[in-house]
Amino acid sequence: RTVYVNGKYLPEEEAMISVFDRGFLMADGVYEVTTVLDGKLIDFDGHAARLERSLGELDMAAPCDRATLLAIHRELVARNAVTEGLVYLQVTRGAADRDFAYPEGVAPSLVMFTQAKSLIDSKAAKTGMKVISVPDIRWARRDIKTVQLLAPSMAKMAAKAAGADDAWLVEDGQVTEGSSNNAYIVTADGTLVTRDLSNRILHGITRAAVLRFAREAGIKVEERAFTIEEAKVAREAFITSASTFVMPVVEIDGARLGDGAPGPVATRLREIYIEESR
Ligand code: PDD
Repeated sequence: RTVYVNGKYLPEEEAMISVFDRGFLMADGVYEVTTVLDGKLIDFDGHAARLERSLGELDMAAPCDRATLLAIHRELVARNAVTEGLVYLQVTRGAADRDFAYPEGVAPSLVMFTQAKSLIDSKAAKTGMKVISVPDIRWARRDIKTVQLLAPSMAKMAAKAAGADDAWLVEDGQVTEGSSNNAYIVTADGTLVTRDLSNRILHGITRAAVLRFAREAGIKVEERAFTIEEAKVAREAFITSASTFVMPVVEIDGARLGDGAPGPVATRLREIYIEESR
């Protein structure tokens, strides 16, 4: 596999980053994950805009302009012959003597690689996922897509230990989002509910597209907080992310939703999302 590191396309064994890189020492970096379907990028502009915002919020320099970023994405997809999968991109503040203050005059590091992966044909899309709730112990700037991912990793491990597929994060009794995805429920009257945008959740690119498609399909959408109790008695539930598209949830903290099979709204939105994206 060819990876991209600071201006060079290299075999992965030869790709190197300094031990003084602040991404490594302080999680001082941001990332994006963009889907590839049929060899084409989905929503590149949305991911690029969110990256620019993440960089801006952290006063971090952009490694290059958007057009160059797009060219690198395409070059990696071509070199690695990816038809279906993901492109991972990470920008860190760069390498400098360890100090809590940001260093001056240091060039940011840009690392990118691809992951070939079957995304459309998914077992979870047919059977639905089981989730458990765990406290949301992350920091208060979840709108910035940083590489500090230990809290979501711990949540994922708690889910695995409980025999579930993923965890929904709960703060002040209300669901913020999934460990690496946005969370949705469908209420008894058919309303689609998902957390409103703020610093408490990541502003999902898939979320924006799915809410647009839902509204176009005549589904009533409410962007508001919901409790885990409301979720457990919801008609259906699902998650969204670049790597899962729309994925049905059929069990929350052991409570089965509906008849325990993926719901019609999740199933339909998954179909629409895939159809419209490719
Ligand atoms: N995760 N919320 C969190 C905390 C996330 O990490 C992600 C994405 C999302 C969904 O965002 P989007 O629709 O733009 O992918 C929501 C990526 C896929 C990851 O970490 O692998």
